[in-house]
Amino acid sequence: MALTPPSERIWWKEPIAKIELTWIAIAFCWGLIMFFMMIYWHGAGEQNLSNEAYRIKPEVFAEKAQAMIDEYTVREEEGFPVVHPPPGSDVYLIARLWMWWPILELEKDQSYRLHLSSMDWQHGFSLQPVNINIQVHPGYDLVMTIKPDVAGEYGVVCNEFCGIGHHQMVSKLYVVE
Ligand code: CUA
Repeated sequence: MALTPPSERIWWKEPIAKIELTWIAIAFCWGLIMFFMMIYWHGAGEQNLSNEAYRIKPEVFAEKAQAMIDEYTVREEEGFPVVHPPPGSDVYLIARLWMWWPILELEKDQSYRLHLSSMDWQHGFSLQPVNINIQVHPGYDLVMTIKPDVAGEYGVVCNEFCGIGHHQMVSKLYVVE
C-alpha cells in the first residue's frame, strides 16, 4: 500500500517497457508448453495414472470389497485379512477411520483394476516408497489400472489429515513374484 498517491494517477495507461513485454511473452509461451507437456507426459512419460471415477454408495463399495475378501483371503496379519485376488481382476481397498482394509497381495507384472473409496470422509492413499498419491473420497469409486513391476513390500499411509487417528492409518501392500 502506498502512503502517498502516485504522481501519475492514470498509471495503467503508462507504456509498458519492452523488457517487461518480452518477459510476459516468454512466461506465456512457457505456460503453454507446460500445459501441452501434461498431455504428452500422460502417454510418453508414464508419470500420470490413468484413472476413472464413478459415484458409488459406501455400503455398495463395502459389499464388493467384502465379496473379494471372502473369496480370496489367503492369511491374516494382525487381524487384517491378506487378500490375493486373481490377476486381471477388480481389487478393492477401503479407507476408513483409521485403517486401510484389507491388505492386498498382488502379482508382479500382472494388471489389476484397483478401486479406492472411503467409508466416511476424505483420506489420502499414499503408496511408499514409489510415492503414488491419490485422494480418496466417500461416495466415489476411483479406479486405476495398475501393473506393479517391482516385487516387494510397500507401505500405504494416509496423507490427508483425517482426525485423531490419522497417524495410525498405515498399512501394507505386497507385490509377489
Ligand atoms: Cu485417513 Cu488421514
